[in-house]
Amino acid sequence: MDLFSSIDLEPERKRMEELAAEIDRLNYEYYMNDRSLVSDFEFDRMLRELQDLERQYPELASPLSPTKRVGGEINKSFRQVQHRFPMLSLGNTYSIEEIEDFEARTRKLLDGKEFSYTCELKYDGVAIGLTYRHGLLQQAVTRGNGTVGDDITTNAKTIPSIPLRLRGEYPDDFEVRGEVVYPFDAFEAANRQREAEGEDPFANPRNAASGSLKLQDSAECAKRKLLFCMYFMMGPDDVILKPTHYERLEWARQMGFMVQPYIKECRNIDDIKAFIQHWDKARWELPFGIDGIVIKVNQTALWEQLGTTAKSPRWAIAYKFKAERVSTRLESISYQVGRTGVVTPVANLTPVWLGGTTVKRATLVNADFISKMDIRVGDHLLIEKGGEIIPKVTGIDPDQPRGGAAPTRYINVCPECGTPLVRADGEAGYYCPNSDGCHPQIVGRLEHFVSRKAMNIDTLGPERLELLYQAGLVRNVADIYQLERSQLIGLGADQSATIQDKSADALIKAIQQSREVPFERVVYALGIRYVGEVGGKKLARYFKDIDHLMNASEEELAQVEDVGDVTAHAVRQWFDRDEHRQIVERLRQYGLQMETRIEHGDNTLDGMTLVVSGVFSRFSRDEIKADIEHHGGKVSGSLSSKTTYLVAGEKMGPEKRKKAEKLGIPIISEDDYVALASGSQAQS
Ligand code: IVH
Repeated sequence: MDLFSSIDLEPERKRMEELAAEIDRLNYEYYMNDRSLVSDFEFDRMLRELQDLERQYPELASPLSPTKRVGGEINKSFRQVQHRFPMLSLGNTYSIEEIEDFEARTRKLLDGKEFSYTCELKYDGVAIGLTYRHGLLQQAVTRGNGTVGDDITTNAKTIPSIPLRLRGEYPDDFEVRGEVVYPFDAFEAANRQREAEGEDPFANPRNAASGSLKLQDSAECAKRKLLFCMYFMMGPDDVILKPTHYERLEWARQMGFMVQPYIKECRNIDDIKAFIQHWDKARWELPFGIDGIVIKVNQTALWEQLGTTAKSPRWAIAYKFKAERVSTRLESISYQVGRTGVVTPVANLTPVWLGGTTVKRATLVNADFISKMDIRVGDHLLIEKGGEIIPKVTGIDPDQPRGGAAPTRYINVCPECGTPLVRADGEAGYYCPNSDGCHPQIVGRLEHFVSRKAMNIDTLGPERLELLYQAGLVRNVADIYQLERSQLIGLGADQSATIQDKSADALIKAIQQSREVPFERVVYALGIRYVGEVGGKKLARYFKDIDHLMNASEEELAQVEDVGDVTAHAVRQWFDRDEHRQIVERLRQYGLQMETRIEHGDNTLDGMTLVVSGVFSRFSRDEIKADIEHHGGKVSGSLSSKTTYLVAGEKMGPEKRKKAEKLGIPIISEDDYVALASGSQAQS
């Protein structure tokens, strides 16, 4: 007992509970019932009051407080956890005949019993499992390999449609499963913003949802506007759950889960087929993506009778929609030049409606793609959109007459600067070699350099870079570090990108701060062909500093994990150019990180030897051991007179405890350990 716990905090505790309950209720009404009961202003005020109280009295703050919706906690790592019930997948098919077979087989196996099916949407997202005990969210875990997944609880709490506390009646201990999806409008808004910031857009909502759940910064995840669609409920005590799947979902809705209303109880194969046909067309009117229909036997008692194969239950099946395909005329071909000089041919199409959007353009990949398919202006092309949001040209429509134009002659000079294009050995595409004189290459490199995953100078958007380039202030990435405040002010007068006093200060500050960006991202920022984020990391970690990287031979470069011959060649070529070496030298002089920093831990556990035993909630076994070493301590496998502390997790055996007591070794809890490692004293 410490001195402070005797002070009466009852009024504060009550107020905090009151606020939390009210905010929870308002959130529920807003997200589930589309009802705004108070003004945004009033809502923010309550939230802020609760945040302030939590800051003042952290010991009273609930881990399930609605303030967690906003995020803010940083995920250091995503702990791997075992699923209590394995996360099975479903058998799936693209064929209606196989659905008929499934239905006939199920009927036969159930041999005259009364039963029905539920048909529901197959959400195209990321499967997660949520554990609730006593109505409180305990844990959110990704599917992983079905047996072990990642603990993403902190990020899951930021998703408004995941209840933190359940309403009404609920089982005491159970698990809920569903899919986290990225609604189309939020997804498209996010992609527009990414493009404006010079980042690569997400390929599709599913990937984006999956990436969001693994964001380190939960506040960032909160901004993503993800949606959780609940589709399954299970418990150790299955009997207390309702006897049909349909009723279980109905019940879940009353507990506060987002259960999509598009579920239908079907009695026969005709009902099932009608449901499939309806959604095959209507799916594009939904606010989120689905990739098929799931058909389940409704009576849960029959699930056991039908059983499970090695991978999936026999009482359910997924019908997957085929990618939607349309045919449209190729009006013309234009050519885009990227930052590395690579030329991409783009099809300009007669606008056509496909999968919820109008498609006007699609990539034609490269010169080989065009010549292999013999694509000509005037042809009708087949365009497909599957899970990907970006439509793909898959061929020429065989049912339409050919366009009649002459074979496409690929351009041989750069459409931007007129320089003859070159084609490197073994490569499918052409590129413009005039890297220092070709406008989209120069500006593209600058945009890449400042982008979030590179140097993260976020105040320098494409418009401003263009301004700086036009004003002759920035020609290459090193010039950015030479900019002075006085040169910036007033730049671009009467344009939306005008730089004023305040923004000039912010810009200079962001540029200064970017000097702290780690070496691996500097390597990526240089914009060497084929060196992406991962490549930058691998190269930086392998060579440790710029000199070793810069002077490495092609053979040495190819030794690096994930770096193939083509990349090795591109890296070598890049550093072989004098202009590039000069840029690197200048960046070094401006103080950018040119070597990997060695991470130094502290020495809070200096001279101590710790033994760990049992299961921990914050760390895996390996993590706690690494943590001890990081803080300067030693880890030992067995207790001896040299042991300083025994860190006891859950389920530690009684022998260990006895032995420690016999040797007089203090036994500390996981929390004590965390306090000790952070520099405060442990209590035994
Ligand atoms: S039921 C044991 N229902 O599709 C049955 N799954 O391979 C559990 N999915 O792993 C799955 N929508 O990730 C079910 N309405 C739905 C679904 C759904 C999407 C996903 C889920 C599952 C995969 C099937």
